[in-house]
Amino acid sequence: MSKPKVLVTRRWPEEVEAELKQKYDVTLNEKDIPMSIPELQAAFQNYDCVCPTVTDPINEEVLSIENKRAKIIASFGVGFNHIDLDAAKKENLVVTNTPEVLTDCTADIAMTLLLSVARRTGEGERELRAGNWAGWRPTHLRGTKVTGKTLGCIGFGRIAQATADRAHFGFGMNIIFSDPYMPSDDIIKKYNATPCGSVEEVLQKADFVSIHCPGGESTYHLLNKERIGMMKKTAYLINSARGDVIDNDALIEALRNKTIAGAGLDVFEGEPKLNPGFLACENAVLLPHLGSASIETRIAMGMRVLENMEAYYNDKEPGDRVA
Ligand code: DGY
Repeated sequence: MSKPKVLVTRRWPEEVEAELKQKYDVTLNEKDIPMSIPELQAAFQNYDCVCPTVTDPINEEVLSIENKRAKIIASFGVGFNHIDLDAAKKENLVVTNTPEVLTDCTADIAMTLLLSVARRTGEGERELRAGNWAGWRPTHLRGTKVTGKTLGCIGFGRIAQATADRAHFGFGMNIIFSDPYMPSDDIIKKYNATPCGSVEEVLQKADFVSIHCPGGESTYHLLNKERIGMMKKTAYLINSARGDVIDNDALIEALRNKTIAGAGLDVFEGEPKLNPGFLACENAVLLPHLGSASIETRIAMGMRVLENMEAYYNDKEPGDRVA
């Protein structure tokens, strides 16, 4: 039997690409240039399996193309808001993602942002590199102490829990959260966490608000001007989830007017385009979507895609099927 034809939309770690080459008739994106809508449509017509990642718009326009050959979308990444799942289901496409393997690294980035913005490390480094450091003094770049403060998680799934683990056991932080799906009592007990009845309650009580809900229509601008306005003036907003959960204009206004203390952001609405308003905000730490960007994790994500494909091509249910 001939090998399934597989299209990978971006460069993947070489260890993973080597394994893909061994097992499949694979076309790689050697130049790592993002694919256009017509190129993605052609991929669905010419390949059995399409392997996109979180920046590829696998929308209805792509999925409704005539004469499709593809049967499975094996996506690289845990988030799947780039894929129109309803359209995929309508077209009888199997869709998989790569959960779990990036939990620790994404929680590490959430903590990196939290610590960096609270302790003003970005400002300090910029000052030092610009040759403006006037030396140690008691009033220099005083930030906010993290130990003992309250971390409020919006969403309390795997990545939020891993962040809570680091915050609670590493920094003695109190954990509060809101999530429409209540975690088990064991999880709540483990972090001595307090469930809140609403997102608003978390915003009003937390010293650090960390976003951990999925992106997409249901959470679009969940943190709008009104809700950002409910945060304490001394509080920080951390986002390692999806950019469009926050109304970026409203956040920039809050950062400018100092109605909140600061923000640590790894994701942005409309990324990789950055709202230029962020650049003037000294009280923001800005990262280019690095949550899962460790060598180990990116290999593990690719291998997880391979496991899902292997299950599919051996007539088993892929472990990470989302549609
Ligand atoms: C994902 O996998 O959804 C992340 O955003 C990429 O690290």
